Amino acid sequence: MDKRYYITTPIYYVNDVPHIGHAYTTLACDVLARYKRARGFEVFFLTGTDEHGQKVEKAAHSVGETPLELADRVFKRFQALWEKLNISNTDFIRTTQERHKKGVAELFRRIEAKGDIFLGEYEDWYCTPCETFWTETQLLNGNCPDCGRPTDKLKEESYFFRMSKYQQTLIEHIENNPDFIQPKSRRNEVLSFVREGLRDLSISRTTFSWGIPVPGNDKHVIYVWFDALANYITALGYPDDSEGNMAKFWPVDVHVIGKDILRFHTVYWPTFLLAAGLPLPKKVFAHGWWTVEGQKMSKSLRNVVEPNMLIDKYGVDAIRYFLLREVPFGLDGDFSHSALVHRINSDLANDLGNLVSRSTAMLSKYFNGILPAAGPSEAVDETFRKRFAAVTLTVDELMNELSFNKALQAIWELVGAANKYIDETAPWGLAKDENLKPRLGTVMYNLLEGTRLIALLTAPFMPETAASILATLGLDQTDLSLDGNDTWGLLPPGTAIAKATPLFPRIEAE
Ligand code: ME8
Repeated sequence: MDKRYYITTPIYYVNDVPHIGHAYTTLACDVLARYKRARGFEVFFLTGTDEHGQKVEKAAHSVGETPLELADRVFKRFQALWEKLNISNTDFIRTTQERHKKGVAELFRRIEAKGDIFLGEYEDWYCTPCETFWTETQLLNGNCPDCGRPTDKLKEESYFFRMSKYQQTLIEHIENNPDFIQPKSRRNEVLSFVREGLRDLSISRTTFSWGIPVPGNDKHVIYVWFDALANYITALGYPDDSEGNMAKFWPVDVHVIGKDILRFHTVYWPTFLLAAGLPLPKKVFAHGWWTVEGQKMSKSLRNVVEPNMLIDKYGVDAIRYFLLREVPFGLDGDFSHSALVHRINSDLANDLGNLVSRSTAMLSKYFNGILPAAGPSEAVDETFRKRFAAVTLTVDELMNELSFNKALQAIWELVGAANKYIDETAPWGLAKDENLKPRLGTVMYNLLEGTRLIALLTAPFMPETAASILATLGLDQTDLSLDGNDTWGLLPPGTAIAKATPLFPRIEAE
């Protein structure tokens, strides 16, 4: 079996600058991408920016820029943040790139050739000041639900996609593939939506021009969601699908998204793909929503959490750890500075940091920093060792389910077990009796070998910390692979191991 893995983030709009919500999705994908690489997969990890559409056009005009000038400026902020967050993406797609525009036009053409795109008329209520169409039911007392001003019934020529044609196939697909939409609650939500009936979808606009022209009719631009969703295949080189990345990586293993864009990814996108004769994504996972100190994040509340500032203050791995540890992936969560400080102090400074500094300090003190071979084993050692193999298996299952917080919990059980092992075996007592030196050697070996395995398991979440622990253990800090390295006993006796400097200084509450 080929070990290949394709994972994507949403492509983010350039009318907003990156905040903690964008960082969360991208980070989750990064952790999974790193984990899969460590398990020997060839990984294609895609992120990028969504640069067309009315929203971006308006945002640009309001700051006196062309849409492309705005996009050129803002996409760099996303790229810079991903670099700072240690995001290991394979590619970064911008929807204004030629490769993308070419692929979208071809996708449109092929679906049209099949008879699933037709020219019709779009009739809805239009709010001119807001330049937005509303359906009858969205109106508030006949007025625009956004600004409250009167609306006009307006007809616009539009291309439509025969989404209704694919309703039954989609229902069957969702029913037959329980993993297709995750978590389960989202799957049920989508199923009942689709069962209520799918309308044909308007997929072009004539009221603005910032988009990809409809092939053969440039009065129209292609609807921004048709354009944006196609990024997942244009980045693979679509329509070139004979060899290369399209053949290698499609269908995608998982599209990771926020719950706000569930319908686009589980109804629109799959029906476009069905029409284009392409296989459907193996999985779409919609995670929950972050609030900040109990409130919705919004520019007007001035409470948008800026990831750059957090990374500067607390360190990149602390932020990576916190975001994935604090909230079960799939549920909503609240970001608060006190919760962040608490996690850093208890899980990182205390549990993990102390383990590494205590074990390396004892090795320096009792064995001059040279790792002894393990001597005879006792029951307590066997119990300790066995937990590692068991947790490694559990972590694999949990990572495949995208249960990041549970995977971290499981790894922290090992950290706890290692700290407990120190207390139970009391090396300081053994060190007092020269006859117990072999026993002390066993304990020190197990402790540092356990630390090595913990470092490897945490590496997808905290790559810098893992590398630093491995370097302390005298190992190649660039080799973070788990396959081949995740078995007990690979740390060679005789290795020189220096006393570690604290990994995570405690933070005093402000
Ligand atoms: O929707 N909590 O882009 P977008 C958690 N361009 N996640 C959050 C969040 C929050 N408070 N705020 C944002 C778009 N996100 C389209 C996508 S894909 C073909 C096109 C994350 O810039 C979350 O992943 O509005 C959400 O789905 C995404 O940012 C929306 O980003």
